[in-house]
Amino acid sequence: MKGILVQLIYMASAIFFIYGLKLLSHVRTARKGNTLASSAMLVAIVVTLLEIPGFDPLWIFAGILIGGGIGAFAAKKVAMTDMPQMVAIFNGFGGGASALVALSFFWKYGVGAESGTLADNIGVAGTVSAILSIVIGSVTLSGSGIAFAKLQGLMTGNPILFKGQNQLNLLIALGMVAVGGWVGFVATGSTAVMVGALVLTLITLIIGITTVIPIGGADMPVVIALLNSYSGLAACAAGFVVENNLLIIAGSLVGASGLILTNIMCKAMNRSLGNVLFGGFGGETAGAANNRDYNNIKQYGAEDGAMVMDTAESVIIVPGYGLAVAQAQHACKELGDLLEKRGATVKYAIHPVAGRMPGHMNVLLAEADVPYEQLLEMDDINPEFKRTDVVLILGANDVVNPAALDDPASPIYGMPILNVHEARSVMVVKRSLSPGFAGIKNELFDFDNTLMIFGDAKKILQELVSEVRNN
Ligand code: TAP
Repeated sequence: MKGILVQLIYMASAIFFIYGLKLLSHVRTARKGNTLASSAMLVAIVVTLLEIPGFDPLWIFAGILIGGGIGAFAAKKVAMTDMPQMVAIFNGFGGGASALVALSFFWKYGVGAESGTLADNIGVAGTVSAILSIVIGSVTLSGSGIAFAKLQGLMTGNPILFKGQNQLNLLIALGMVAVGGWVGFVATGSTAVMVGALVLTLITLIIGITTVIPIGGADMPVVIALLNSYSGLAACAAGFVVENNLLIIAGSLVGASGLILTNIMCKAMNRSLGNVLFGGFGGETAGAANNRDYNNIKQYGAEDGAMVMDTAESVIIVPGYGLAVAQAQHACKELGDLLEKRGATVKYAIHPVAGRMPGHMNVLLAEADVPYEQLLEMDDINPEFKRTDVVLILGANDVVNPAALDDPASPIYGMPILNVHEARSVMVVKRSLSPGFAGIKNELFDFDNTLMIFGDAKKILQELVSEVRNN
């Protein structure tokens, strides 16, 4: 009876996870979705703990208190722009936890495996699940550690490439398969099984490092989404190991949603996952464009910009990575409100990969209380540019580069962009003519209807606010 009740609670929790995920797909309902799914997880954890025979609450609650305290403190303190590395490290710990669960399983059953192999003792399915949990969990742990170090500036963000790298990775991967097969299906005796499991963990930790170091720092968000998916798969495998249905369901949901997110990000950048993982793209030195590449730059000041704004009836604001760097979201909202008060319609155009992490611009503008109705996704806003008086681009570059539409030789050719060039006037706020993430020239800056205002986005926005107010 108790078992049936537990399974029913698990099922209810799983339904709440799925409903929570659905709510997470809209900015307006995302908070509710998060609360719902995490509350369901809390209930599921409590039920699982109560089910453990002879459960000693001391260790578990001490762990929850210490781990939860560190997590809450870190999440409260982290700057919005450091969020990707925070997610990376959380993913890594998730993968590491699953690997530890599987290792403890090897320990427990390896001791009993004096006669026959582990597979003889616990069956093929259990053995394969335990091996997969160690492999995927360890790759996630070390890979996420490298992603964290790259984004935090603890190591170079440039792709680390050397001769024979792919061959070396292949060799290590073959070693991993050999040791994995040996530990599950050939080794007998507790010492051999345990040592084999530890060697397997070590090899897979190395693979996590060697496969992430060749990837440029700016591509880390895609890698993090992929590792997030891995951490789910590792948890799913651990669920099979400890025979817990809820862990299997929760792990599969994380695995699937991480893969979907990875796919969305790659599509929005018009790059294949293979190109992200093996292309050595997006290092710190990717910059190739410079001032000499442009010959029709029209430089304006904030005063001139405010005059153009003054006559505009429709304004679309395009936020980009530079807005996040400048932390200019509040100044941006202030200008938007001011223009609305003066009778203009103001909308914000959100490109799916603007910034450096999924939903970066949505989160940034939500922090400044920009109403959700004013945020329009790329496909919804693109038809509006041709009827718009002024487009104000704040620290965005690649996501408005027309080369993606008309230059087949461009590395971003084929990437969907915001068609800002179709507006009557385009105002670009950035500090210089330096390129964005893709490291390429932006021909938009030379267009006849484009004017440039050089400077830090926050400073320029504050000047624009004061100029518009005085007009
Ligand atoms: P980017 O193309 O990277 O351009 C950002 C621009 O911001 C730069 O050209 C920079 O020019 C400017 N900037 C930096 N600091 C500034 C400041 N304080 N004030 C004003 N401007 C500042 O940004 P984007 O248009 O948002 O495009 C995002 C890029 O990242 C895309 O190529 C995308 O594929 C890539 N990417 C995105 C993601 C996700 S999930 N969002 C993941 C991986 C890669 P100055 O130096 O001249 O100021």
